[in-house]
Amino acid sequence: MSSKDFSGKRILVTGGSRGIGRAAVELFLDRGARVCVNGRSERTVSAALAELGSENALAAVGDVSTAAGCEQVVEAALAALGGLDVLVNSAGVARMVAIEESDEQVWDETLDANLKGTFFTCRAALPALRTSRGNIVNLASDAGLIGEAGLTVYCASKGGVVNMSRAMALEVAPDVRVNCVCPGYVDTDMVRRDYIDRTEDPAAAEQSLLDQAPLKRMATPEEVAHAIAYLASGNARNITGAALSIDGGTTAGHPA
Ligand SMILES: NC(=O)c1ccc[n+]([C@@H]2O[C@H](COP(=O)([O-])OP(=O)(O)OC[C@H]3O[C@@H](n4cnc5c(N)ncnc54)[C@H](O)[C@@H]3O)[C@@H](O)[C@H]2O)c1
Repeated sequence: MSSKDFSGKRILVTGGSRGIGRAAVELFLDRGARVCVNGRSERTVSAALAELGSENALAAVGDVSTAAGCEQVVEAALAALGGLDVLVNSAGVARMVAIEESDEQVWDETLDANLKGTFFTCRAALPALRTSRGNIVNLASDAGLIGEAGLTVYCASKGGVVNMSRAMALEVAPDVRVNCVCPGYVDTDMVRRDYIDRTEDPAAAEQSLLDQAPLKRMATPEEVAHAIAYLASGNARNITGAALSIDGGTTAGHPA
């Protein structure tokens, strides 16, 4: 495939203003796509578009934690792009909260953004994706494949994303492919700003995350973006219902 293998492709990335979603937006733009960047506020999306500085980057503002919000975001993307070839669901939240401290609000915020939002964005995009014979890449997590203490609610949401992606892949084949990626820790705001930097000893907190992976490193957002782009590309035309781990070996089994 050429470096412009997404030339003319129309792509929506939820949570695309920063982190993994943003890295995916940049990679798709680089490879010739027109990309709608979703974020919750006009301000963050406008700032991202200004930084991207590409006429092929467009806005689809909205909160994907409600069904109505998901529909609004997909409608905005269809209006801007004139159709859709690829949907990437990267919007998500993670809160490290013990079970006893996880009240209904933590549950609802996490499940609504991560699982309900992914489902209803897929649902809203399906007619356009069936027309284009397009595909979906959902952001799941290693926490969707194995349990992680302190992340029970997040695990529930990401386990849901993994198995929902499989069921969806079966139901919408052969028109649309549906896959998910399962990163381990990725060096984004979600991990560094919102977790590591808030601990009493950030260096120790970072080391303990690195120690969970046999490869002893976190992924970069760009590494995850390459996996997303692979699944979204024609090279993956025979792949659907897959959960691709990008976790430094975390879910491979017990380390030596
Ligand atoms: N960073 C990691 O270690 C890691 C690991 C595995 C999976 N993931 C998943 O990858 C995805 C991206 O994570 P990230 O690390 O880039 O996080 P991030 O916090 O840097 O970015 C997430 C983006 O999603 C947006 N978002 C959240 N809720 C939204 C909503 N309701 N509507 C619209 N936008 C919303 C946020 O505003 C933010 O821009 C998430 O689904 C996350 O759970 C992250």
